[in-house]
Amino acid sequence: MKVLVTGGAGFIGSHVVDRLQARGIEPRIFDLVPSPHHREGDVDTVLGDLCDRETALAALAGCDAIVHLAALADVDQVTKDPELADRVNVRGTHVLLEAARELEIGRFVYASTIWVYGDAAGPEAVDEDSPLGLPKHFYTATKIAGEMYTFAYTELYGLEHTILRFGIPYGPRSRPTAVVAAFTAKALAGQPLTIAGDGTQSRRFVYVEDLADGVAASLVPAAANRVYNLVGRENTSVRSIARTVRDVVGDVPIVHIEGRAGDLKGGNVSGERAARELGWQPTTPFAEGVQRYVDWVTDEAGMPRVATVSSTDGSAAAVLRQESAEL
Ligand SMILES: NC(=O)c1ccc[n+]([C@@H]2O[C@H](COP(=O)([O-])OP(=O)(O)OC[C@H]3O[C@@H](n4cnc5c(N)ncnc54)[C@H](O)[C@@H]3O)[C@@H](O)[C@H]2O)c1
Repeated sequence: MKVLVTGGAGFIGSHVVDRLQARGIEPRIFDLVPSPHHREGDVDTVLGDLCDRETALAALAGCDAIVHLAALADVDQVTKDPELADRVNVRGTHVLLEAARELEIGRFVYASTIWVYGDAAGPEAVDEDSPLGLPKHFYTATKIAGEMYTFAYTELYGLEHTILRFGIPYGPRSRPTAVVAAFTAKALAGQPLTIAGDGTQSRRFVYVEDLADGVAASLVPAAANRVYNLVGRENTSVRSIARTVRDVVGDVPIVHIEGRAGDLKGGNVSGERAARELGWQPTTPFAEGVQRYVDWVTDEAGMPRVATVSSTDGSAAAVLRQESAEL
């Protein structure tokens, strides 16, 4: 089986490529840039812009399925350039849907986000059948648009799809602005970790290699025309992230500053359907995932690996607001 992975050079996509190979599935990367995470020649790669119809058709030719991950995924970038976000995330998705229809591709896997649940993600559990409200962020709007286009192509043209709503990924190859990465960078620099409010606001973090395995698992026949949340098993609070990073990296102070009004407390997104129908559940405990991320960062930077240490509280002041970078 041959699978086109758009965005295969990126954070999540590069891990999806690895997990597909591990399952004996042949990936082909389709990205603007070569993967910095694979040796040249190791993975079949098409370089180009997915918004270009001819390039997209050429990339998809000979594939059995497509896993569509490429996007403007950094919300700060989306805020700065909504036009580009619309071009890549919405119209680019449409170009690929059309190419998949034309080439009669067997499955279109679309990468979405649990942020589509928005404010519905209160204390009540939400699952794939929960209604979606109107999005507050343009990024979320583009991701919902991609879901809707994908769904409509199944209804209209019979193109088989699977929609995956990812929790908040962390782990090796992560963007430096994501919260685990940012706390790690501060801790490695010996700086305090600062939490706005009491730190009980939480998110469904998911270790990226587990997530990538869930993506690969979603190619099974049973996942045809289904939506799945691929999330961690439990919500992880900001306080718990800070403590874990401190325990792994070293004894830096954790400081609480005043919280922001209207901070989302974090929702309870169910991953039960993926467990039941795909047999997929994340297996990496949070502390282990953080340790692997820290090992990767220190290896990349040529720094010595840090051993796990015990923790104590301290005090200092700095501000870390990561909400927007995590969408
Ligand atoms: N990282 C997260 O926190 C997160 C959470 C939920 C869902 N997602 C979704 O997962 C997917 C992957 O996210 P990521 O974090 O790996 O992003 P990333 O930015 O690391 O990777 C995206 C890749 O897409 C490529 N790309 C962008 N525009 C392109 C174009 N026009 N043509 C071809 N390739 C193009 C980029 O070069 C990059 O390699 C996205 O669809 C994103 O919306 C991400």
